[in-house]
Amino acid sequence: MNWENKEIDESVQGTATMIEGETDGLKKLYLESYGCQMNFSDSEIVASILTKSGFSTTRNPLDADVILLNTCSIRENAEQRVRNKLSQFNTIKKNNPALVIGILGCMAERLKTELLEQEKLVDLVAGPDAYRDLPNLIDTADSGQKAVNVLLSREETYADISPVRLGKNGVNAFISIMRGCDNMCSFCVVPFTRGRERSRDPESILNEAKELFEKGFREVTLLGQNVDSYRWNITKKNEVIEPSKPTVSFAQLLEKIALVNPLLRVRFSTSHPKDMTDDVLHVIAKYHNICKYIHLPVQSGNTDVLARMNRGYSREWYLERIKAIRTILPEASISSDIITGFCGETEEEHQDTVSLMKICNFDYSYMFSYSERPKTLAERKFKDDVPEDVKKRRLNEVQTLQHDLAFKNNSAAIGKTFEVLVEGISKRSSDEVYGRNSQNLTVIFPKENFKPGDYAMVKITESTSATVRGIAVNNN
Ligand code: 5AD
Ligand code: SF4
Repeated sequence: MNWENKEIDESVQGTATMIEGETDGLKKLYLESYGCQMNFSDSEIVASILTKSGFSTTRNPLDADVILLNTCSIRENAEQRVRNKLSQFNTIKKNNPALVIGILGCMAERLKTELLEQEKLVDLVAGPDAYRDLPNLIDTADSGQKAVNVLLSREETYADISPVRLGKNGVNAFISIMRGCDNMCSFCVVPFTRGRERSRDPESILNEAKELFEKGFREVTLLGQNVDSYRWNITKKNEVIEPSKPTVSFAQLLEKIALVNPLLRVRFSTSHPKDMTDDVLHVIAKYHNICKYIHLPVQSGNTDVLARMNRGYSREWYLERIKAIRTILPEASISSDIITGFCGETEEEHQDTVSLMKICNFDYSYMFSYSERPKTLAERKFKDDVPEDVKKRRLNEVQTLQHDLAFKNNSAAIGKTFEVLVEGISKRSSDEVYGRNSQNLTVIFPKENFKPGDYAMVKITESTSATVRGIAVNNN
């Protein structure tokens, strides 16, 4: 999913996320989230389930009765960070043997035996579809037994659970619209860690968006590993499941959410190039409040590499999708994910990625060097044969190029005026606020009387490759 975003690399470091407001006398939970936005969104579901069963939260792991890490398996270094953290938490347990340490999320299924039985780093393991079982699992762990539930479900969407909002600004929120992934990209561990694709009831999504708006939120991001394959009441073969009820596609869902209120911005993530249709682009064009920003991971610019990756599209197909975006949504920004040094990648194939990035003129890219993951198609079929130093050199090359593209694109914003949704006070100066424009560009400008949740028209005056600055204009 979008996946991955800026959040990913920041979050790989680990962000402690907690429920606001502590309640004395109850059991205390310390919850930390790694990985993608979907994982962060899952932590909000976990927080909701455990608050209902009497937990309060703490920012301090030393105060906790239960420590849970919501983990990521996407690359090896993400897993390594979690292991280091677990070792640290186990030193706390030496002085507090009643402490329960657990892992949730993507590492759960992969490493349950290793972490629970061999290395004895955890007391509890719960996979992404097992969060309703957490209160029981914690009881089991409390009684001194090992607690495990890593069953993957074909139905679980947590549709009825109202997430506790852990992001603190009260302006943006994630709404999970589907879970799992059926794509089987050969490099990717997600189908194994998160299971089969399933879509969430559109009514529950709509209600969540309405409630968020009423509580003052002004932006929702619809999350799914592949939002374009969202479908309700209709099978992949286009067979209607219950003929008396309406079917809902992603384009239709997007439209329903846009209609909640014109002041509620809608984003979504992630689109898949093989599935992204023009009807989604037309819905985006029709509504001012659907953000003009598309995250369309390409992974490689070479058709043979894309075939080895099992992505289901060619270089030409991807470029045609970019053309469709530029035609239907001329003001949209586009970002991508790129992997360097995938199995068998030659220098020429790598250069195809470089040339494609230039043609597409991405505003942002999330770039990674290939990291072989257990059980994946690539692990079984191909040799991880690009030397580490070559992978890193190619990564460096695409990063430098992306930096240049972003710098040029951001410089081109100077003099233009954008509608910015204010998200908070700037970290560097309390006289400034920051927010994003529809194109997902972060804009910093003088605070005046603006507060989080306000919209401001801002004229851009300065730029770097990461952010731009401006001044508010025509705001009465
Ligand atoms: N190695 C490197 N990068 C990966 N990604 C997914 N799996 C791997 C892997 N094994 C990247 C892809 C994906 C993003 C979320 O992470 O670019 O789109
Ligand atoms: Fe998110 Fe899991 Fe994928 Fe990590 S491995 S990015 S947590 S879905």
